[in-house]
Amino acid sequence: MNFLKLFKGAAVAALVAAGPAGWAQAQAPAQAKPNIVIVATGGTIAGAGASSANVNAYQSAVVGVDKLIAAVPELRNVANVRGEQLLQIGSESFNNERWLKLARRVSELLKSNDVDGVVITHGTDTMEETAYLLNLTLKSKKPVVLTGAMRPATALSADGPLNVYNSVIVAASKQAAGLGTLVVMNDEIHSARDVIKTQSLKVETFKSQYGPLGMVVEGEPRFYRAPIRPHTTQSEFDIEQIQSMPETNVVYTYGNMNRTAMDAFIASGTKGLVWAGFGAGSVPDYMDAPLKEARAKGIVLVRTTRLAYGYTVRNGETNDDKNDYVVAEDQTPGKSRILLALAMTKTHDTKELQRIFWKY
Ligand code: DGL
Repeated sequence: MNFLKLFKGAAVAALVAAGPAGWAQAQAPAQAKPNIVIVATGGTIAGAGASSANVNAYQSAVVGVDKLIAAVPELRNVANVRGEQLLQIGSESFNNERWLKLARRVSELLKSNDVDGVVITHGTDTMEETAYLLNLTLKSKKPVVLTGAMRPATALSADGPLNVYNSVIVAASKQAAGLGTLVVMNDEIHSARDVIKTQSLKVETFKSQYGPLGMVVEGEPRFYRAPIRPHTTQSEFDIEQIQSMPETNVVYTYGNMNRTAMDAFIASGTKGLVWAGFGAGSVPDYMDAPLKEARAKGIVLVRTTRLAYGYTVRNGETNDDKNDYVVAEDQTPGKSRILLALAMTKTHDTKELQRIFWKY
């Protein structure tokens, strides 16, 4: 597929000028600008369709990071930017191993004196999970921004270039320091803790239950709030101390569900199960016994909701104290699974696990 033909001539010329490696040449003195590394992992932002009219049907994760950078020559006015191709995958293919690889590399970059911030280009499908993991485990106040695209690089009105531009602006800004991992999409700046993808095709898809932290307006980050929950340097989790994450899985609820999937997870040796319950995390009467049996076998159970937004009430419809369950407060099943895996690297005590879920 010759997607390069679809790139603007100017973008290709900029690629040649920037060279394949090293900090891209800045127009003004390089020292005056922050050094930002773009770590590319794939996704739609690196996608290519057969034609520019293929906005929703395309192959993701085929365009390299140098071409993503070259497509936005304006970056040179903002920062000294260099790219690193860490992975080239659709983000649905992230697993614990790939997440740890990414988190360790970002942690390493942040320790370097000549790196002021990191932008990660990423598929949108699991961006919120990656962002939350980094938010909880990186030990740096330097900005880390995830971005992606809903339309491939080759599409009419591709959203990737502006998202990359805005993300570098945010990663290069002093105001973004100490706010934890951020997601910048569609001009908005979101906290990793709260952001979720809400719609499968629209450019306006990333939302936070309590609103974004800010926006990028005419090349300026404008912040209006800051995350209150502990993250990065204030968190008790440190990526450098985590060798592996225990197996944790999600049980999705639906009418007329049965215990087959849950039993299979238990038989496979899962250590923790996140219950993606109805409404505020409710449990059908016929699933009460299977859940209690799982807990009796030592499996940690975290109740949450299958809804995009919400809150799981402890001892609401279910007696969590008596059943020794944990509730995930307002967190989604996917992010709860990440937090549970991290928490279980430290403890299996349900009181401690509940403290962690209330805290983060
Ligand atoms: N499967 C996708 C991914 O997350 C492509 C969708 C996207 O990036 O928007 O990589």
